[in-house]
Amino acid sequence: MDETTRILQLREELHRHNHRYYVENAPTISDQEFDFLMHELQELEARHPEIFDPNSPTMRVGSDLNNEFETVVHTRPMLSLGNTYNREEVADFWQRVSDGLMGAPFQVCCELKFDGLSISLHYEEGRLARAVTRGDGVQGDDVTANVRTIRSIPLQLPLDADYPREFEIRGEVLMPWSSFDRLNAEREKSDEPLFANPRNAASGTLKSKNSSTVARRGLDAYLYYLLGDGIPGDGHYQNLEAAARWGFQVSKNMRLVDSLEGVFAYIDYWDKERRNLPVATDGVVLKVNSLAQQKSLGMTAKSPRWAIAYKFQAEQAETTLRQVVFQVGRTGAVTPVANMDPVQLAGTQVRRATLHNADVMASLGLHIGDRVLVEKGGEIIPKIVGKTTSATTDDSEPALPFIEYCPVCGSRLVRYEGEAAHYCTNDTGCPPLILGRIEHFISRKAMNINSLGPETVDDYYRRGLIHDAADLYSLNLSPKERSEEKILQSLEESKKVPFERVLYAIGIRFVGEIAAKTLARYYGSMDRVAEASLDSMLQINGIGEVIAGSVIQYFSNPVNKAFVERLRGYGLQMEIGEQQRQAQSDRLAGQSVVISGVFQHHSRDEYKSLIEQHGGKNVGSISAKTSFVLAGENMGPAKLEKASKLGIRIVNEDEFLSLIADGEKS
Ligand code: IVH
Repeated sequence: MDETTRILQLREELHRHNHRYYVENAPTISDQEFDFLMHELQELEARHPEIFDPNSPTMRVGSDLNNEFETVVHTRPMLSLGNTYNREEVADFWQRVSDGLMGAPFQVCCELKFDGLSISLHYEEGRLARAVTRGDGVQGDDVTANVRTIRSIPLQLPLDADYPREFEIRGEVLMPWSSFDRLNAEREKSDEPLFANPRNAASGTLKSKNSSTVARRGLDAYLYYLLGDGIPGDGHYQNLEAAARWGFQVSKNMRLVDSLEGVFAYIDYWDKERRNLPVATDGVVLKVNSLAQQKSLGMTAKSPRWAIAYKFQAEQAETTLRQVVFQVGRTGAVTPVANMDPVQLAGTQVRRATLHNADVMASLGLHIGDRVLVEKGGEIIPKIVGKTTSATTDDSEPALPFIEYCPVCGSRLVRYEGEAAHYCTNDTGCPPLILGRIEHFISRKAMNINSLGPETVDDYYRRGLIHDAADLYSLNLSPKERSEEKILQSLEESKKVPFERVLYAIGIRFVGEIAAKTLARYYGSMDRVAEASLDSMLQINGIGEVIAGSVIQYFSNPVNKAFVERLRGYGLQMEIGEQQRQAQSDRLAGQSVVISGVFQHHSRDEYKSLIEQHGGKNVGSISAKTSFVLAGENMGPAKLEKASKLGIRIVNEDEFLSLIADGEKS
């Protein structure tokens, strides 16, 4: 068999195994065998870019192409549904349908309302052609590259099935609880903000610029609406059964009913049972089953008359408010938290609930001893949504106030314009902020002291061994202890981290990576940055008043100055490297360079700065404007294909290095 035939065969085989694994939950080969076949396909595809296929199973792992989403107009507008929270309105819906159909018998398909974001998938000749988000209902974002990484969405339908040549299928992309919990646990560890609920996590993920992030995060999808000419029959339910045969993941919990009692039985059952589902649901959707009847019922301006969504009541419980405490996060943001008498809510005992911020607190107007309503909606943290009985009958008794001073360090809180939160800004004297700053200092994009985790830092701080990040360099660690040896090693390595990252690491408020780089390149040393005047900084492209003001403020604080001096004493880079200064040329001036693949001599980031140092620009994706692609090993097939199509030069590592070496002479 020639390699091309083998590629086609492997693709077909892997599509089948994917479906067995992700949709049927009944794999017929082991993970190892699967990986083995996948590997074989990857290798063969790398050798045969001429038969590149965006729907190959190898595309499931995503790429690091920058996805700029294109806006596309929906072929058929994506309407939303009328919502109701009460049973009378469900009965009204039933009656309206019955009247609209002049008393003719009808069936209703009851479905779960999945809590994610809706997606429209287009298939042509059995292949996924396009995936578009709902957007505003008229047009949405083309997120095809990201959707391809969702394993339960078929990229290629079985060749022998009876699907129409072209059709659209809509459904919900969601993040299962298991992926959600894992993601939040990871984010907590690295001190990134948590997602409030799986819907936000799914939507954030699907809009990610990087499809390999999407691939990692484990999204899933359920399809619930088949559209287009030539779809199998008149029954919505039956059409979805057909879609399931073609390989789509369709909920197994749909039911056809022919009475209002049937609808209520379905609602009652799932109101409880939904807690045992692997994904979040927030209600049920009722749809008239016959497409002919749907058509005769028609639409209102916003939504179809043949369907309605019944939303489950968020679970609430009543309890007594005992105390409000204020928590200071690592960014300095202050959150009011209520302590209450313990109460059972959605399967767990709850005694704390968030009050979000000063505005929410004020609108609730709380007093200690109030009976309050606690709700656990889509969010994982319960919140107080109102009160039932006030502890006081005296109207003049003032409600609990928000605080003015930090509960940890006592400094005055600040509320920035346009922000809901109050902040403690005492970042050299308030413990949670100090910890936040140390964690920032060691983070990957700053000093990259990766052998130190937040727990160890916490522990050192609590034991009084460190008070700021500079203390890390004088810790009494023993090279004989394996874990401590590693810490010593990465502390040592951090002394080589270039100045621009040191400037970022010291944690000047509002000075992110880009601003740090800009300031470092412009001034060349810490001393010159520290002495820079407001006027001088405002001359720099990309530096505005907020950043410049913050730099001045930082260096006017003697504690910060002393901190920087101690870092200098430990040998951190306080000026732009000799190499960086010398190597600069304009050899790549005006050139846009795309980096792809794995490299031998330098890291990707190093190549990125080399390109910049020689006047070039590193861009994420190949276009007609790209000057050349700097390609390492295993360059992605998508990039290869695009580059060859546009006739863009591929430059390997050695060629690139001699290109800029020539530049040094000129
Ligand atoms: S049917 C015209 N079915 O709920 C029919 N929607 O406003 C349109 N949803 O935007 C949708 N589960 O994102 C349908 N089984 C289900 C659903 C569902 C969740 C979402 C969908 C839609 C919103 C309704």
